[in-house]
Amino acid sequence: MRDKILTILMDNKGAFVSGEAISRQLGVTRAAVWKYIKSFQEDGCLIESIPKKGYRLLNVPDILDGVVIRHGMQTQILGNQVEVHRCIDSTNTRAKELALEGAPEGFLIIAEEQTIGKGRLGRHWVSPPGVGIWMSLVLRPKLYPSDAPKITLIAALSMVEAINSVTGLKAGIKWPNDILIRGRKVCGILTEIHADPDIIDYVVLGIGINVNTKQSDFPEALRDAATSLYIEKGHKITRNDMIRAVIERIEVNYTKYLDSRDFDSVLSELRRHSVTLGRQVKVIGRTEALEGVALDYAEDGALLIQTENGQIQKVLSGDVSIR
Ligand code: BTN
Repeated sequence: MRDKILTILMDNKGAFVSGEAISRQLGVTRAAVWKYIKSFQEDGCLIESIPKKGYRLLNVPDILDGVVIRHGMQTQILGNQVEVHRCIDSTNTRAKELALEGAPEGFLIIAEEQTIGKGRLGRHWVSPPGVGIWMSLVLRPKLYPSDAPKITLIAALSMVEAINSVTGLKAGIKWPNDILIRGRKVCGILTEIHADPDIIDYVVLGIGINVNTKQSDFPEALRDAATSLYIEKGHKITRNDMIRAVIERIEVNYTKYLDSRDFDSVLSELRRHSVTLGRQVKVIGRTEALEGVALDYAEDGALLIQTENGQIQKVLSGDVSIR
């Protein structure tokens, strides 16, 4: 009922809707409608209430909310179901639980705060309350497990596009999964997969975005390496809008790739947004470290590095630092 009333108010944002009309449409008493309106106001919604005219929604606060995120979202599959947590250990852990229980493709889990946010290579991901987007999507692509890194790259491309469309900022991709602005990390992606030998069962696509984080919110050790959309833009960004844009871009790029199996056009876009290619890099992989010039991407999205002795080596995963 709460979600239905909020949807009606949002559909009519800026205009009055009578309590009578809402109660008739939803088959509840006007007193019940009023109770919900009061609770929205307590949550920070700006709602005018005028006798004989009804209720007028003027502003919704930037508290993460499934109804607000889904309102006006232009997707067919992704984000059809949204689970929002005030505080959770890790949205990736929760997404894996749900995927194992059969959650469908596109199920989205979001949290205001994570206590055990997970980064790549076993690192901790700092996820303070109220200032970031910590979210995980359950995907079920019909792909070979070896194709899973392509999903990370598609997500990275979608992130850069969404940041640009919402904020106008130009972000770049540090292969494979870091999104940087002016050389500092604004977003990270952690893809975890569960697969049979020849087919993916599910992918959990975890995305962390520093949205309204202030410099002082970052632990001191991260201050030089991390940034946020707020720091770069100089004003706050509405997280619910940003989530909607990211999910929309992922759906476009993901379904386009799955339908066409054409990864070349994704690669062309990745090249355009890369901050890695052409640079002297050091890659620390699982077993070895490699230094050289990042030449290009291979057709599967791996990084091609030319080492000092002229050899070209293909790197499938690793931690890249730009020299
Ligand atoms: C990285 O750059 O190391 C990846 C960071 C990924 C962080 C996100 S926040 C939402 C999701 N839940 C997690 O525990 N981690 C990912």
